[in-house]
Amino acid sequence: MFSSTGSFLSLSVFSVLVLLLSFYQVNSSSTPTKIGKGYRLISIEETPGGGIVGVLQVKQKNNIYGPDIPLLQLHVKHETQDRLRVHITDAEKQRWEVPYDLLPREKTQALKQTIGRSRKNPITVQEYSGSELIFSYIADPFSFAVKRKSNGQTLFNSSSDGSESFGEMVFKDQYLEISTQLPKDASLYGLGENTQPHGIKLYPGDPYTLYTTDISAINLNADLYGSHPVYMDLRKVKGQADAHAVLLLNSNGMDVFYRGTSLTYKIIGGVFDFYFFSGPTPLAVVDQYTSLIGRPAPMPYWAFGMILLSPLVLS
Ligand SMILES: *[C@@H]1O[C@H](CO)[C@@H](O)[C@H](O)[C@H]1NC(C)=O
Repeated sequence: MFSSTGSFLSLSVFSVLVLLLSFYQVNSSSTPTKIGKGYRLISIEETPGGGIVGVLQVKQKNNIYGPDIPLLQLHVKHETQDRLRVHITDAEKQRWEVPYDLLPREKTQALKQTIGRSRKNPITVQEYSGSELIFSYIADPFSFAVKRKSNGQTLFNSSSDGSESFGEMVFKDQYLEISTQLPKDASLYGLGENTQPHGIKLYPGDPYTLYTTDISAINLNADLYGSHPVYMDLRKVKGQADAHAVLLLNSNGMDVFYRGTSLTYKIIGGVFDFYFFSGPTPLAVVDQYTSLIGRPAPMPYWAFGMILLSPLVLS
């Protein structure tokens, strides 16, 4: 009786293991699930503030991970010579964003009037150029790309082109997904807030989950811990190395999937708020990035005392 129960148990443990392993294999296969059919751009116009605003309409609704948000507002602006912002949110309802008083930055355009007005206007803008970065788009299904003016390199391109590697943009209340194509030889660094065996260089296939839950015990009533999903992309074009960075200003939990030729964000809330920094050197990228998010405070001279002393203490 006992031994047969025992073998039955070990058999079930074994089959559970087999089941788990087969699940693992299904999950790690290279064809990701496609959740939606994407959006179509139904209007776009220039704003008095010097940016462009567009309206996106969902192409085909489904209920996977909840209903799709039917209308989205696209806001694009070259905020400085080397910084482009692409912001996509619900056109009809306010959504959670990193608070503007916490991280002071330009506001996006007001919503309501634009929708009513712009539907009548034809889609006129095709490319929207700054001094180094160019924003361009495909209207249906909607995708956007960011190019470098000086060498024509595409830095970001969310068009899936019907390929197997990733699907169209998805925007639901608790599930947002967007991807970019990447050249094979680009080296990506960053994301952070995630321990990786390879350090800060991104390796294809490594899982990156950003879900910051740690709280410092010293400060009361404050969640001090956030993530900055930013990566720097270094690539060599015609013998010259160029760097740029992409920040997705979204504080919600997310998975980032880097596959070597594409990168996909899957987020459980908030908005798409992308900042592209043109570089072209890594130092310039850091300068442009910290001019938006804030510079680190200089260390007081005395704070180095312990570090200078430690070799003496150790010897
Ligand atoms: C983005 O990708 C699509 C599909 O591969 C392509 O047709 C389009 O030209 C690309 N855009 C840029 C700016 O590279």
